[in-house]
Amino acid sequence: MKQFKAKIISNKKIAPGHYILSFKAPKTAKNTKPGQFFNIRVSQTYEPFLRRPFSAHKIARNKIEILYKVVGKATEILSMKKKGDILDVLGPLGNGFDLETGVSSVFLVAGGHGVAPLYALAEQIIRGKSRALIFIGGKTKKHIVSDKELKELGAKVYISTEDGSKGYKGLITDLVIRHCKAASRLAMTTIYACGPKPMLKEVAKLARRYKMPCRVSLEEYMACGIGTCLGCAVKTRTGFKLVCKDGPVFDSREIIWT
Ligand SMILES: Cc1cc2nc3c(=O)[nH]c(=O)nc-3n(C[C@H](O)[C@H](O)[C@H](O)COP(=O)(O)OP(=O)(O)OC[C@H]3O[C@@H](n4cnc5c(N)ncnc54)[C@H](O)[C@@H]3O)c2cc1C
Ligand code: FES
Repeated sequence: MKQFKAKIISNKKIAPGHYILSFKAPKTAKNTKPGQFFNIRVSQTYEPFLRRPFSAHKIARNKIEILYKVVGKATEILSMKKKGDILDVLGPLGNGFDLETGVSSVFLVAGGHGVAPLYALAEQIIRGKSRALIFIGGKTKKHIVSDKELKELGAKVYISTEDGSKGYKGLITDLVIRHCKAASRLAMTTIYACGPKPMLKEVAKLARRYKMPCRVSLEEYMACGIGTCLGCAVKTRTGFKLVCKDGPVFDSREIIWT
């Protein structure tokens, strides 16, 4: 983990309220794993006071991309950044995704901007010659991002929206369950998921029912991002763990879902 000043290469709006920001990170990118995150100070003033965590979306040789949704003050400030501006970045932080060995296909399940850390993972899976099926759910079509890029990468993409404006009408877990039934009869399949807690809880239930290994990336409010403030604790079967330091990726069976 390292604190560094990163020059912004680009900051583009990709969909309503969603942006991809790319920053230079020649020494950091090669040490960054899919699922790890960066705690970013978006302003040189104390407004906002705390850094904000963002997952590595794409990891290239010299740069990192983050995909973010504007939801409040920090992300709004971030959306106004321009090429050449400097960010104060801490990272890479957290454990990241570990790929199971001997897996023939992988299900990646994303709720809205939960797709952010799954792109880099899909890239790694496809490079390793396993099949990646990605399920992206959102409230409406405005909440579905990165589907085109993932298709171009070679992933099989399934989409659901609650209002039916894109893909299947309903919850993404409805689509996942259909594939779990088929996958449980075939070779080993692992699930990786990132999104809102209710979705992760459902995915964890499915994984248990179909006896599939499952890793979830949790999002909790964070302050330090490095395990000192204890602000991001989650209840697990072996006591409280810190999302920033012990996670954000956990075995779904480890979490006590509330
Ligand atoms: C490990 C990790 C990785 C993340 N990666 C990404 C990413 O790649 N892309 C992305 O868009 N966002 C990501 N997030 C969430 C992102 O950090 C928050 O959206 C951001 O901090 C919001 O800051 P803000 O000042 O704009 O909004 P705030 O004013 O702080 O919050 C606005 C709204 O968002 C909700 N919110 C804010 N932070 C969280 C959180 N951590 N968990 C649940 N709800 C929250 C608040 O309840 C509030 O309703 C990640 C969070 C974590 C913990
Ligand atoms: S954010 Fe401080 S301990 Fe996790």
